[in-house]
Amino acid sequence: MQKKTLALLSGGISSEREVSLNSGEQVKNALDKDKYEVRHYDPKTDLAKLVTDAPQIDAALIILHGPFGEDGTVQGLLDLLDIPYQGAGVMGSAQAMNKLVSKTLYAEAGLTVPPYRVTTEGQAVDSKEVVAELGLPLVIKPAEAGSSVGMSIIHGAEDLNEALAKAYEFDSRAIIEAYIEGVEITGGILGNDELTALPLIEIIPGDDYTFFDYEAKYTAGATREICPARIDADLTARAQRVAQTAHQALSLQGYSRTDMIIKDDTIYILETNTIPGMTATSLYPQAAAKAGYSFTQVLDRLIELGIEAHAKRKR
Ligand SMILES: Nc1ncnc2c1ncn2[C@@H]1O[C@H](COP(=O)(O)OP(=O)(O)O)[C@@H](O)[C@H]1O
Ligand SMILES: [Mg+2]
Repeated sequence: MQKKTLALLSGGISSEREVSLNSGEQVKNALDKDKYEVRHYDPKTDLAKLVTDAPQIDAALIILHGPFGEDGTVQGLLDLLDIPYQGAGVMGSAQAMNKLVSKTLYAEAGLTVPPYRVTTEGQAVDSKEVVAELGLPLVIKPAEAGSSVGMSIIHGAEDLNEALAKAYEFDSRAIIEAYIEGVEITGGILGNDELTALPLIEIIPGDDYTFFDYEAKYTAGATREICPARIDADLTARAQRVAQTAHQALSLQGYSRTDMIIKDDTIYILETNTIPGMTATSLYPQAAAKAGYSFTQVLDRLIELGIEAHAKRKR
């Protein structure tokens, strides 16, 4: 079999650059060397080279998180270059990256989102009114960002403005959300036309962390992750359906991972990741491992699905 030339994209210019470089390295090591000749491109420095090399590239693996990677921009460039890639296309990526757009699409699909309110930088916010409406604690997050950057949890109205200022460092719009105290789970989906829901993972941030923040996400051992999640069969099936419905509502492809919180039998959906963390111990590969896919096999499958979706695309 002839080897495929694979462009591995990691690094980039978002605040998640370091995470991306680290994942890229692990992905590179895990890829089947008999099947792929891997070339690394860092979008921060190597875009011109990628354009030049495009005719020699069979597929791309995008291991970039956050804006300028997970948001449709890189996907658009690859579309123009006619290079297949794993996961969501331009529109799906953009919709999932923006937590406001995704909330609207979730609600339209009948899913439950935590009560929230949107604010825009420069707009005066009556913090007492917000607290009266949404209660305490409150979660403040930028509309577009990932890995919990710019996010805060506040316990008093007096902390709202500072939290908003922190969110506005990443986006000019912010979301103020009711804090849902419950069991946090995440649900992976794999497939193009036929979707498989992977086993759910339960996420328990360590005692040192008030929520699943950047450090809790990327410090080894900071979070306990239990797969399959310790919830009953009925709730498991419902949560897997939520992940699947979210995947379809956002028009995603290939794979995705949806974050949820279960409280009193209600499943609240937080967000869907179109390029979930991709180290061997990250959540999505962990869930795939429970379903019988090694890390190497997941990567293979994602590339296959990307090539398949590209071939079927109407132009
Ligand atoms: N409304 C909420 N209630 C409780 N915890 C939340 C809420 N929103 C976010 N969190 C916590 O913050 C983490 C990150 O939030 P999320 O919306 O998934 O954004 P991202 O992962 O893109 O930074 C979640 O995994 C969860 O632990
Ligand atoms: Mg998340």
